[in-house]
Amino acid sequence: MKELQEKILKEGTALNETVLKVDGFLNHQVDPLLMQKIGEEFANYFEDRGITKVFTIESSGIAPAVMAAIKLDVPMVILKKQQSKILNGEVYQTKVTSFTKGTSYELTLSKKYIDKDDKILLIDDFLANGEAAQGGIRLIEEAGATVSGIGIVIEKSFQPGRKKLDDRGFDVYSLARISRLDKGVIEFVEEA
Ligand code: G4P
Repeated sequence: MKELQEKILKEGTALNETVLKVDGFLNHQVDPLLMQKIGEEFANYFEDRGITKVFTIESSGIAPAVMAAIKLDVPMVILKKQQSKILNGEVYQTKVTSFTKGTSYELTLSKKYIDKDDKILLIDDFLANGEAAQGGIRLIEEAGATVSGIGIVIEKSFQPGRKKLDDRGFDVYSLARISRLDKGVIEFVEEA
């Protein structure tokens, strides 16, 4: 998505070889008009999949996910990050470990908000190692529902997440694919 690439080049900051700061429009302050366009791009790409719900992982996935859900006219569900296990049988939970942040959490979904017939579009802001996305997939599959697509705002293609999802046959649509980062350097994958 050209407009997103331009925004990343203009307002993003590569801190080092692995971290891209985009606090000005995605992770802290949010650019609502850009989020609306991002949501529409996801909705258009996945429109013929019979999506019944958009899922995201708190917190920075919420803005693009809600915009996609408006366009697809379906509910949006936030997968919550809990500190510890909830042992009441009313939720699905799975442990996710973040390599970037060096922390773990229990990704949590109430059984009330998923049904085995659901076709889910899973949206997240970053795809790095793929741990959060794979946690979301585990919850959806545990409920017997289907992951019908994965929408990523910024993919760091040089990290292993994208390949892990491709290898499992998921349809991943990333709006900006970064091939290389370095202090002050941001390069994108050349799309054919
Ligand atoms: P993974 O899910 O793909 O395995 O990624 P990883 O654990 O490495 O990343 C964990 C958190 O770090 C996620 O945010 C992810 O969005 C964020 N992240 C990863 N790489 C970058 C990066 O280059 N730049 C920025 N700005 N964030 C990055 P989170 O903990 O889920 O928090 P939130 O922002 O969604 O609240």
